[in-house]
This record gives sequence, structure tokens and C-alpha cells, in this order.
Amino acid sequence: MNSDFTEKNNALWVEACALSDLAAVYGTPTYIYSAGHIRAQYTQLQESLRRALAADHQPLICYACKANSNPSILEVIKGCGSGLETVSEGELRLGLKVGFDPQQIVATGVGKSDPEIAALLNANVHQINVESLPELENIQSIAAQMNKRANVVFRLNPNVSGGGHHKISTGRAQDKFGLPRADMFKAYGMAAQMSHVRALGVSMHIGSQVFKVETFREAFAMLPELVGELRAQNFTVERLDIGGGFPIRYKDETLLDLDGYARWVADFIAPLGTEIILEPGRYLVGNAGVLLTKVVYVKGSGGRQFLILDAGMNDLIRPTLYEAYHAIEAVEGRNGPQTQYDVVGPVCETGDTFAVERPLPVMKRGDLAVIRSAGAYGFSMASNYNTRPLPAEILVDGATHRVIRARQDYKQLV
Ligand code: LLP
Repeated sequence: MNSDFTEKNNALWVEACALSDLAAVYGTPTYIYSAGHIRAQYTQLQESLRRALAADHQPLICYACKANSNPSILEVIKGCGSGLETVSEGELRLGLKVGFDPQQIVATGVGKSDPEIAALLNANVHQINVESLPELENIQSIAAQMNKRANVVFRLNPNVSGGGHHKISTGRAQDKFGLPRADMFKAYGMAAQMSHVRALGVSMHIGSQVFKVETFREAFAMLPELVGELRAQNFTVERLDIGGGFPIRYKDETLLDLDGYARWVADFIAPLGTEIILEPGRYLVGNAGVLLTKVVYVKGSGGRQFLILDAGMNDLIRPTLYEAYHAIEAVEGRNGPQTQYDVVGPVCETGDTFAVERPLPVMKRGDLAVIRSAGAYGFSMASNYNTRPLPAEILVDGATHRVIRARQDYKQLV
């Protein structure tokens, strides 16, 4: 699963660090990330694209930083040569602070506020991905006040379902995202009359955890025709932003064939002769992270065995919010006799459950466990629910490790 989290001598390591050592230094609950894994993921995607597409027609990869916006993680990803996809002024500010080139920043968001639009124009981002006609009008009026010209692309709602849980599907007609096909023409027509907007292309994101090239193929089938019709009306289509959705393995899923995906981009998107933009989020960071946690109590009641951890749903909300499967493993004594636990956190809700009847080695109070695949939408969705401090974040790179966000202390919290 996470190739950089491996077992050595019956214990779990990340790169060249034992997780038990990290727990001793930094405490728990703590997010632990592997820089090497992030770089390897980026390289793998980039290599597939390089094999399939001409050197002068390589896509701009814009990391969707909602997945994990820790500045040090952003630095690792910027170091790979990536751009950034942002969905808020906060993400924009972080990206600029870390030093991303504004010309490699694209901005999505269905409800961009006036200050957010102004901040995007001020920063001179590569493009604003527009999701509605009222937003387009608003961008024109703010750009006019600021005497700026906004580069925009229009997000198409293709009316397809892009895999994963229903709460993370974004491309169906009933989802709030993007413009229906007919409105793409309206939007281009309106933009053509606008003094401070330049309409440059089309964007589309169909959802998360897309496992099959066919799903992309099906969803994007309407694109060449749409681009042709737009061009026939003399509208400019020089950019296609084809979104994210690249999957990771949480359990035993068969992953997207990246070479097949890249060939599809080469065969299908590249002939349209546009700049191509990709927005991977989860794929780059998901399996680069684990949530390291400690058993507080083992409790038998109601015929069940509860493993009560010091990490809760406020630290990692995916299992309860999306019924998401996350692998859970003991850090040490991994080969001991097995039993089944309901793995829960300390938060005062029955929903604070990471797994039900999960096979694990017999564990006791004080033992360490990890919840895997927690690098994406883990810390970035964490909260102070139950007035619990946010966990620490640690970045491992080979044999070195450092705090990239200190555990929140009670001074800050109370
Ligand atoms: N681009 C756009 C416009 C998006 O809305 C998203 C994700 C991405 C890119 C990145 O998608 P990815 O490559 O990570 O699949 N909190 C949920 C996931 C929400 C995704 C929202 N949009 C989860 O924990 O599964």
C-alpha cells in the first residue's frame, strides 16, 4: 500500500525511521508523512505523461492542495516542479507564501467571494475556473474596478458520475459544480462582450478515486465536439483543464493505469492543440501519510472488543463521513496472535469509529497503531471538535524527521 511504510523486524518503519521512535519523540496522535513517497508519486505520473506526450506538450500539473495544505508538504511538491490548484483565499495565500509561481496557480470554487476574486486578480493567477454565469459577471465587475483583465476558463458539468462515494462525486447534473453544456456557449458569448475578462478554455473535474481510464474517456467524450462548436463560433479554446481524481489504494483496489491514462490524454486531448492542465490531489499525498496513534484502553462490552485510540474523528473524519476504509495496523508486535476489534476514538459520538470487527494483533493499553492512507483529506479536514487540540504533523525524509506543524497546545485552544 504505502511502499515507503514497510515492516522491518516485526515493526513498522517509514523510510529510514521506526514509527515507535517517532512516537517517543513527538507523541501521539500525530500525522507522519514520507517526502520520498510524494516525490515518487509525482515522478510516476510525470514519467507516464512524458512517455505518451511530446516534450513540448507536457501538461501543467497543479496539485489540488485541499488534500493537504501543510506548507512543508507544499514545498516538497513545488520542488517537484508542480503548480497549484486552489479553492480559497487561504490556499492562494499559502501557495504564494511557499513561492509557487502565480502563473502556475489555477483557482476553482463554486462560491468565490468578492475579496477572493480580488486576491486572485491581484496575484495574477494563471486562470480562474468559473463555475456560474453570476460569478462571471462578478469577475468582470471586480476586474473592471481593479483595472485588470481576468483570464478565465469555464468549468463544464458533464453530467457523469466519477466514482467514489456520492459525497465526493462532482460531475452529475444535480451536483453544484460547473456549467451545463448549453451555458458554456452563453458564458463565452457574455465574456466576448466583457471588457475585463478573457475566456481561454474549458475545465472539467469528474470526481475522486477514478479507477478506470474508460471513466475519463466516457466523461470527456463530449469535449472534442464542444471545443469544435465553440471554435466554430470563433471562441478561443486554448486551455483544457482536465481535473484530478487519480486514485490511491486504501485496501486492495486495482489502480488506474497511468500509462493508459497518459495515452488517452495523448490520443484524445492533445489533438485539440491546447495547453493541458491536471489537478491531482489525493494521488500525490494520500499514501504518503499515516495517523500514528496510541491505544488508550481496551474495553470489552456488549459482546464487542473496543480498541480505544487517542486519535478521533476530529483528527481523521473520512471513516465516519464517507464510510471510508482505512487500513489499521499495529506498529510493533505485528506477528502476534490475532483478534478482532472495533477501533474507535475518544470523541463523544458513536460515529467516532474507524473500523468494525477489524482483525488486528492482540493489543494492550499504550501500544501504538497507525491508520494508513491518511495523507490526503486527513489533517486538512481535522477540527477541534470536543475541544481537542489539532494533532502534530511530522515530515520524514530518509533518516531525517522534523515537525512541520506543532501539536496545538491548550494555550491556543482555550
Ligand atoms: N480539482 C477539483 C476541481 C476538485 O474539486 C478536486 C477535489 C480535485 C481537483 C482533486 O481531486 P483528487 O485528485 O484529490 O481526487 N474530502 C474528500 C475528497 C473531496 C474532493 C473534492 N474535490 C475525501 O476525503 O475523499
